[in-house]
Amino acid sequence: MNGLRPVAIAGTGMYVPPRVVTNHDLAKLMDTSDEWIQQRSGIVERHHVDPGTGPAELAFEASKRALEAAGLEAGDIDYIIVSSLSPQHDFPGISAFLQDKLELAGCPAMDVRCQCTGFLYGLQMGRLLVASGQYDRVLLVGTEVHSTALDFSTRGRDVTVLFGDGSGAVILEPADDAERGVLSVHTHAEGKYARKLWIEAPGSVYGPRISAEMIDEGKHYPYMEGRFVFKHAVTRMPEAVREALEHNKTEITDVNLWLFHQANLRINEMVAAQLGIPADRCANNIDRYGNCSAASIPMLLDECVRAGRVARGDLVAMAGFGSGFTWGSALVRW
Ligand code: ACO
Repeated sequence: MNGLRPVAIAGTGMYVPPRVVTNHDLAKLMDTSDEWIQQRSGIVERHHVDPGTGPAELAFEASKRALEAAGLEAGDIDYIIVSSLSPQHDFPGISAFLQDKLELAGCPAMDVRCQCTGFLYGLQMGRLLVASGQYDRVLLVGTEVHSTALDFSTRGRDVTVLFGDGSGAVILEPADDAERGVLSVHTHAEGKYARKLWIEAPGSVYGPRISAEMIDEGKHYPYMEGRFVFKHAVTRMPEAVREALEHNKTEITDVNLWLFHQANLRINEMVAAQLGIPADRCANNIDRYGNCSAASIPMLLDECVRAGRVARGDLVAMAGFGSGFTWGSALVRW
């Protein structure tokens, strides 16, 4: 970025609530099976919160780990961005609750609502805040509590088996080397498909925002046209990857590690096959966590960093697709 500071990821962290819910556990509640879930999605288990834990509590734990990894304290942060589709409450945003937990009164705190592409949208915003020189350290957290919005009866099985709760955080700060850091972030949206994957209510277009009838009809649960979403995901993610590669004048073979949004292992396998990406360069953790929407990419990044899968100088590519529809990609020189 001409005239702007390079921006690096200084530390990463993740957190999932302790309660593990296996496919077999779900099969006791609804008409599904471990075989169906694994075969269609690659998911074996996910984590769910217990009452009293929301996306802000998960974000707090992930943030503490990211701060520790960066060798920083909460007071070093001068901007908070939280990406999520799970409201802590109707308002204010999750970032307000997280800011209070971090005891950062006065620090700007903003929510980004771009669903499964939320981390990439947040990265785009956070990078610009640091690159401009106005802020030095941005805490960016993707955090989701899906489980409290899911229908655990057979009616909701197509969506409920896919989602998990979790949080992933990164710290953005000026890079010590102009060749390092977040090289690019590209994001897109196509709102005409907003209703293909959504939760309709509560909604401000209704008065009251939710009624007993709407609850009976299940309008407070996610609705997804699965095959339609799948088809768009396997088209848009490769497009976003090509856009990132062309922008940076780089090739698939130059990328050391691929981090795709963890919505469905089959989607990621199809995207990798289309692009000719070797399987050993793709990281996945959907088997253990399910789809954690805005938290998926930073959780995966943190696992890879801690497992030593990312070395200084490596090129890391990220891409995601989700409700909105929204999609995007990022390239980072570690
Ligand atoms: N267990 C058993 N059977 C099930 C289940 C279940 N959990 N869910 C659905 N079925 C049944 C259906 O009722 C259907 O039965 P029928 O043939 O008798 O009608 C059959 O299985 C096949 O259903 P499909 O929906 O056609 O299954 P498909 O192979 O498409 O897989 C899936 C479904 C896994 C949801 C897939 O479509 C998918 O992954 N879609 C994309 C998800 C995604 O990328 N989401 C975006 C990110 S999320 C976000 O942004 C918030």
